[in-house]
Amino acid sequence: MGTKALTEQKTKKQLNTPVKIAVANGDGIGPEIMKATLRILESAGAPIEPEYIDLGEKVYLSGNTSGIDSKAWEAIRSNKIIFKAPITTPQGKGYKSLNVTLRKSLGLFANVRPVSALSPYVPTNFPKMDVVIIRENEEDLYAGIEHRQTQEVYQCLKLITRPGCERIIRYAFEYAKAFGRKKVTCMVKDNIMKLTDGLFHQVFDEIAQEYPEIKNETQIIDIGSARLAASPEDYDVVVTANLYGDIISDIAAEVGGSVGMCGSANIGTEVAMFEAIHGSAPDIAGKNIANPSGLINAAISMLAHIGQAEVADKVKNAWLTTLEQGFHTADIYQEGISVAKVGTQEFADKVIANLGETPNTLPKSLLVQGKGTIQIPEYVRKNETKELVGVDVFLDWQGTDPNELGDTLAKLEVYQLKLKMITNRGVKVYPEGIKETYCTDHWRCRFVGTGAQISGPELKYAPITYEHVVALLSKLHHLGFDVIKTENLYEFDGKRGFSLGQGE
Ligand code: NAI
Ligand code: MG
Repeated sequence: MGTKALTEQKTKKQLNTPVKIAVANGDGIGPEIMKATLRILESAGAPIEPEYIDLGEKVYLSGNTSGIDSKAWEAIRSNKIIFKAPITTPQGKGYKSLNVTLRKSLGLFANVRPVSALSPYVPTNFPKMDVVIIRENEEDLYAGIEHRQTQEVYQCLKLITRPGCERIIRYAFEYAKAFGRKKVTCMVKDNIMKLTDGLFHQVFDEIAQEYPEIKNETQIIDIGSARLAASPEDYDVVVTANLYGDIISDIAAEVGGSVGMCGSANIGTEVAMFEAIHGSAPDIAGKNIANPSGLINAAISMLAHIGQAEVADKVKNAWLTTLEQGFHTADIYQEGISVAKVGTQEFADKVIANLGETPNTLPKSLLVQGKGTIQIPEYVRKNETKELVGVDVFLDWQGTDPNELGDTLAKLEVYQLKLKMITNRGVKVYPEGIKETYCTDHWRCRFVGTGAQISGPELKYAPITYEHVVALLSKLHHLGFDVIKTENLYEFDGKRGFSLGQGE
């Protein structure tokens, strides 16, 4: 991890030698829109040197279930920049999603999707919308750690890390700074998920202080996404966790009206990947009718990323001018607004002819107003004092009366541990549960040190050792209980590292 790649890119820029990029032509309409886009970049004088790699359908069908071979990996890892046309993932037969593979193995932690309205050329209710969604790309519920634990209960682990939060949130502020944006909105659900989303919110507040020139605000994700859909013009940069970001980036693209025209970037500390958000459109492949705009926008983000904001602006302004002039591909052609229906390569020709022009009514691209490339400092590991104060033991118990289970566990002689409570789906059912609470076969039994002060307004825990936990588990097992998992309860610098049960 580090900023080596960026420093290298910068040096190359200074020397004006071309930046090598790994280019994947993709499947379906991929080769056509890639050709159109690269022709535009070449005419604009973008200092890039493509190295072509094979990804996707051909590789999958050759028997490689990951869709990428070792030669492509090598090219990606030495070039650090991937420019990728959409690929076709063959259906069934256990083919893995190439995007997920690339994202995870290359540590592409940020998914960046700019959406701006192009009204009236692309219809939208929000002609001034200009939003960038920055989605965390590696963590959260998408780590894919899922288990079935009982007859009735399945779980998915939500992982939020401090380095992950710091990286994505700093990236959002640095992005705002680099591209002259004014506000960053954080979206979380920390009224419910106080530890995980709470951490995201807390890190946001910490990092926001380092950027006093950029406005910051936090919204709860549910009302935040509703407002993003109803008044997207109020937003500038939005930063959020993986699942929320997946959802709101599609909402943003949809209300912006430009789903087919958006590009996206996947950014890592070493490698970055740029692509259109649409797929390989096999239904129109080979006909020279596909719209290359999504890939052109991805190229614009790529140029800005490698410190070529000037060329990025030149391409974007020529593209906006072409849309204004009414030269439209079939997918956005509108009687009365469009002047001519053009093919993929003809559209590219028009953009090339417009290089150097700026649009009259659409907002002009001004990426160059920002302050250059984005640097993410290396994470410094914190070291708080960690103390074990208890354990949550999860049982698969087929009984129905929480008092029966609770009274049995409360009577146990358990090596300096005592039962504090039992919850079912997070709600306290023992002691003093209410009979209306529905109980499944999944019981979380919280044991804490016998020295703990666990009633009254002041909760105070007593340290225990893991030996005590092991002895407890062994005892439960011998009594015939089905232990399905445990979670240790820790304090960090005296601060509780676990949530309380509802009603605890
Ligand atoms: P799609 O985005 O390829 O197509 C959806 C509809 O939009 C089709 O009617 C298509 O003709 C149209 N369309 C898409 N891009 C267009 C363009 N540039 N110009 C004009 N019309 C366009 O989505 P679909 O059909 O669900 O997926 C097709 C293939 O693409 C699948 O194999 C899928 O796995 C893959 N895919 C790949 C992605 C990637 O490589 N990043 C992303 C999404 C899908
Ligand atoms: Mg999605």
